Amino acid sequence: IASQEAEKRGWHLYLVGGSVRDLLLVEAQPGTLMINDIDLVVDGFHQAADVGAGIELAKALQQIYQNARLEIHGAFQTAALLWHKDPELDSLWVDIATSRTEFYPYPAANPEVEASSIRQDLYRRDFTINAMALRLTSPRSGELLDFFGGLLDLQAKQVRILHPNSFIEDPTRIYRGVRFAVRFGFQIEQRTEEYIRYAINSGVYDRTSQENTKTPALQTRLKAEFKNILAATYWQSALHLLDNLGALRCLHHSLKLDGEVLRQLSLLDIYLRRFGQQQNLHDWQMRLEVLVAHLEPKYQAKVAKNLQLADDSISRFNKLFAAQTEIITSLPNCELPSQIVHLLRKYDLATLILIALQSPRKIRRKIRHFLTNLAKIQPLLNGNDLKELGYKPNPLYKQILDDLLTATLDGTIKDKSEAREFLA
Ligand code: CTP
Repeated sequence: IASQEAEKRGWHLYLVGGSVRDLLLVEAQPGTLMINDIDLVVDGFHQAADVGAGIELAKALQQIYQNARLEIHGAFQTAALLWHKDPELDSLWVDIATSRTEFYPYPAANPEVEASSIRQDLYRRDFTINAMALRLTSPRSGELLDFFGGLLDLQAKQVRILHPNSFIEDPTRIYRGVRFAVRFGFQIEQRTEEYIRYAINSGVYDRTSQENTKTPALQTRLKAEFKNILAATYWQSALHLLDNLGALRCLHHSLKLDGEVLRQLSLLDIYLRRFGQQQNLHDWQMRLEVLVAHLEPKYQAKVAKNLQLADDSISRFNKLFAAQTEIITSLPNCELPSQIVHLLRKYDLATLILIALQSPRKIRRKIRHFLTNLAKIQPLLNGNDLKELGYKPNPLYKQILDDLLTATLDGTIKDKSEAREFLA
């Protein structure tokens, strides 16, 4: 239907980017293919289509598929149609753009857009394997447009850049290249790797790691790439490759993937399996926080803010050093369960996990004991019981419940009748 609508208007329509790559990959290595993100590009027949053609086509399709939601991104002259098949299931995104050339007004900036033809549109893309198009309109519908050797690179299992400036213009592509290489078991082609190293050595990430209001969109895209990588099953290999290329300096120039942080990251998985559900912690975010927490305390909150982490992450890093100092100093002296609870209950789960990972085993054990057992223990009597016993709600209530909790935790009282005696 989309191609008919395009043909009616005298345009070509192409499937481009990741879905073409994935279709070709699945043809070469049969397996399951789940495409829920489709990129379409509209182009004119003899000259570039109007800049607004993609948006016009999306609007026409929305008239036909009224259950699709239409989103228009005016600044990029693109539109998206979104189908929510079922809130529990995957959704389908169809992005529709007009073929375009992008100009980067300065390195690492957001691109500015101008109408162009499909070849130029493909040339502005990141890697040859992502720069192929499948024509959907006639004549010659079904034809693969592969101007830059994408198919050969897929067969040779390599990630190859299209033009030398690519990583300078868009440093997130370094992360994308690593992601594709690790995900598909490909190599980063030698020249491409040289361009990556050149971009990093020329300081492309130093601009991003300073507080820089000029590139907030870049930070958002970098955070999205971290999320993609750290949420995937191949996150460890990807981190090693990023470290090897020197790309982790986009977080901070001092960040290295040393044995200590690797130990913390693998221990983190155990904590996430055990406690992650309690507060819906996201694996990727905690992995990223472990990397940030590995930096000197004075840099942590700044790096979290630069990367536009959520406010609660930033405030966690603002307080992490003080929390760690208090716990390291006081926890060894806490012998009674109630002392452990009173010390640790003021901290959120993520803070406690970050501190546990960095602490010696004795401290880690106490934190784990708190999270597994002590934090769940309730006082033997609750507010209703107190009311029944004739206590009127007053400011002392909280204190009474706290005393009851202390006695419950330390085993001074064992059941409700002992609790009543305790109050008397
Ligand atoms: N693209 C690019 N440079 C970027 C991001 C995207 O050139 N920094 C181009 C690539 O051609 C890519 C397409 O835009 O294939 C779509 O991007 P995206 O949906 O982010 O990635 P996919 O390649 O579809 O990969 P994935 O399957 O991981 O979503």
